[in-house]
This record gives sequence, structure tokens and C-alpha cells, in this order.
Amino acid sequence: MKDLNGKVAVVTGGGSGIGRGIALAMADAGMHVVVADIDLKAAESVAAEVAERSVRSLAHEVDVTQRDEVERLAERAYDEFEAVHLLCNNAGVTTFGMMGTDVRDEDWLWVLSVNLGGVINGIQAFLPRMQAQAGEKHVVNTASIAGVHPSPIIAPYVASKYAVVGISEALRMEGAGASRSIR
Ligand SMILES: NC(=O)c1ccc[n+]([C@@H]2O[C@H](COP(=O)([O-])OP(=O)(O)OC[C@H]3O[C@@H](n4cnc5c(N)ncnc54)[C@H](O)[C@@H]3O)[C@@H](O)[C@H]2O)c1
Repeated sequence: MKDLNGKVAVVTGGGSGIGRGIALAMADAGMHVVVADIDLKAAESVAAEVAERSVRSLAHEVDVTQRDEVERLAERAYDEFEAVHLLCNNAGVTTFGMMGTDVRDEDWLWVLSVNLGGVINGIQAFLPRMQAQAGEKHVVNTASIAGVHPSPIIAPYVASKYAVVGISEALRMEGAGASRSIR
């Protein structure tokens, strides 16, 4: 997708860091931006920065681990803008400094449910709507170098990001027309 002007982006984890950077870069390219984050105040602050660039913006509170919340995000984005051309599944978290064997079950679950579950929820909620819409569209799943090279003391993060790379490459093949039924 080369022509971004006037199109619509949704960025999860848009309230800080890389997500904020994506939101502002897309706004600079003329896109309207839905800034979605579990931290509504952060999302609102970035949405205000987006609006300073003479495009429309919307702040939306979402926990990407919850399918119903991501569905509501999709509904709201489509109600407001009628189309979504760029979905950035960017929200991500990590534990740090622990050997994989020492990470508590709830922390494995937290990292996997945000980093992997969030991408799955984004795809399931948005892709059917985006596919039904005419014209170009694109999904970006933020992975990491840790999704192609393993690293110590962040095992849950590595596991989640390998999965994100795998899903993204599989869907890319499907988007290019590949299909095979395996039973
Ligand atoms: N910072 C890096 O060096 C780096 C490197 C490679 C990849 N990444 C990836 O980039 C993405 C963004 O990372 P960042 O460094 O900007 O992090 P960050 O902590 O600055 O931003 C993450 C955002 O996600 C939000 N968030 C957390 N849990 C959420 C949830 N359940 N639902 C919705 N939003 C949630 C946070 O509130 C925060 O605003 C992540 O996927 C991360 O794994 C980061």
C-alpha cells in the first residue's frame, strides 16, 4: 500500500513507544488514526498529537487480550471511519531477567496473551471486515528480533514473537493466494 493519504490506520499499543511513533508517522502521511491502548489517557494524549496534524483521530481503550474488546474496537473504527486500511497489531509486553524455568505461570500467560493473543484477536476481529472492503489494505504485526533469534532471560517474549512471525508469514502466503487443506 503506497498511497496512505486519507486512509485509516488502527494502532494497538498506540499510547506510547513504537505505537505512538507509528501513529504519528501515519498521521504525517495523511492517515486518520485510531489510537487504541489499555491506557486510555495515553491513547488520548497520542490521539491529540495526531489531530494536530490535520487528520482525524480517535482514542479507544482496549485490552487486546479480550476478544470482545477487540471486536468493539473494530466496530467503533468502522462506525467512525467506514473502513480500516492499515491494522497495526503492536501492543506488546515482556518479563525480563528471569530464566524460563523461573517465570511464573501467570507471567507466561500474560506475555503470550498480549503478544500472541492480541495479534490473533486483532486478526480475527478486523480481517474479515478488511477483506470485505474494496481496495488495498495491510496488516502489520509488530514482532521483534527476538522472533527470529532466541535470547536468554526473556523466554516468554521469544516464544510469543516467534509465533507472531510465524502467523504473519503464514497469513502473508494466504493473502498471496496460497491455500492447502491439511487433515
Ligand atoms: N522497544 C523495543 O526495543 C522493541 C523492540 C522490538 C519489538 N518491540 C515490540 O514493539 C511493540 C511496542 O513496544 P514498545 O517498546 O513501544 O513498548 P511500550 O511499553 O512503550 O508500549 C506498549 C504499549 O502497549 C500497551 N499495552 C500493554 N498491554 C496492553 C493490552 N493488553 N492491550 C492494549 N494495550 C496494551 C501499553 O499501555 C503501551 O502503551 C511491542 O510489541 C514490542 O514487543 C519493541
